[in-house]
Amino acid sequence: MQTSRPLTLGEFLVAKQSDFPFATGELSALLSSIRLAAKVVNREINKAGLADVLGDVGNDNVQGERQMKLDVYANDTFARALRSRGEVCGMASEEEEDFIAYNDPIHANAKYVVLIDPLDGSSNIDVNVSIGTIFSIYRRVTPVGTPVQLEDFLQPGNQQVAAGYITYGSSTMLVYTTGHGVNGFTLDPSIGVFSLSHPSMQCPETGIIYSINEGNYVHFPEGVKQYIKYCQAIDVATNRPYTSRYIGSLVSDFHRNLIKGGIYIYPTGTKSPQGKLRLLYECNPLAFIIEQAGGKATDGYRRILDLTPSALHQRVPFFIGSTKMVEDAEGFLAGTPAP
Ligand code: AHG
Ligand code: MN
Ligand code: MN
Repeated sequence: MQTSRPLTLGEFLVAKQSDFPFATGELSALLSSIRLAAKVVNREINKAGLADVLGDVGNDNVQGERQMKLDVYANDTFARALRSRGEVCGMASEEEEDFIAYNDPIHANAKYVVLIDPLDGSSNIDVNVSIGTIFSIYRRVTPVGTPVQLEDFLQPGNQQVAAGYITYGSSTMLVYTTGHGVNGFTLDPSIGVFSLSHPSMQCPETGIIYSINEGNYVHFPEGVKQYIKYCQAIDVATNRPYTSRYIGSLVSDFHRNLIKGGIYIYPTGTKSPQGKLRLLYECNPLAFIIEQAGGKATDGYRRILDLTPSALHQRVPFFIGSTKMVEDAEGFLAGTPAP
């Protein structure tokens, strides 16, 4: 009896290989190494209270943020998985000050670089709230066979060949795009397989959820304050007041808004003059995904994917989600100076 079951991620990668006429299977192999690392990190997260992975390691990362044991564990796990294959010539991570070059003979002819936020939502690790991983993949721009350079990592988001995230929540999901739509896979822990659960994901054109840390309200630009008041105003015709939801893990807020519709905002503010979120391994990959799902991502003025990076850990203001909601928010910023 043929039992119909969803495609596994591995089967999907093979089936979609035809999206890349010149593919040699390298990108599929690269995504498979990310799949493996996701399962390993998921296992540690699921027993975090029992394993010695809670708490911090006693020092700060390059961001000046307290480095959690799980930040380091996730970083090392993804770095090892990416190095174990031959498709990647370098990796940049939130947890590493500089990029890591794989300049050995095995990786000399690799043509991809990966940028990663190995664990997003670190403040939620010790309180059992959902967290995630975000990754971004580019083709290198310097000659294959030469040592990878910083310019291979400082590419605009519109050059990404793939981007995705893992959300370690009530279930563990891997969501990614290669520029041919967005597909979501749910991990079946009983057999350790990611299966296609959310094919061709589309972000609703509008929604009633807004995500922003209102604790920083006094530091927000005037236009953001006005947009928050707009969300809270009574207007039955536009389903306001909206609902405020803020998990403190970008990936989780993003994933909910992708499915239900909504907007996530991390603006500039006195505490974060450029915004808090990092362009290369948080904003660009999620901007690629949201655009592939019909949504929008800007810094309040400019398309995120068109911003030219100047530094690995560069921060930008971030407005992402349902197109109409992002455009409403931009309307309140119009006429005010861009960052
Ligand atoms: P990370 O844990 O990788 O540093 O990311 C945390 C980010 C993002 O996940 C979250 O939405 C935001 O920081 C929360 O910042 P605030 O606590 O300042 O609101
Ligand atoms: Mn993050
Ligand atoms: Mn992080």
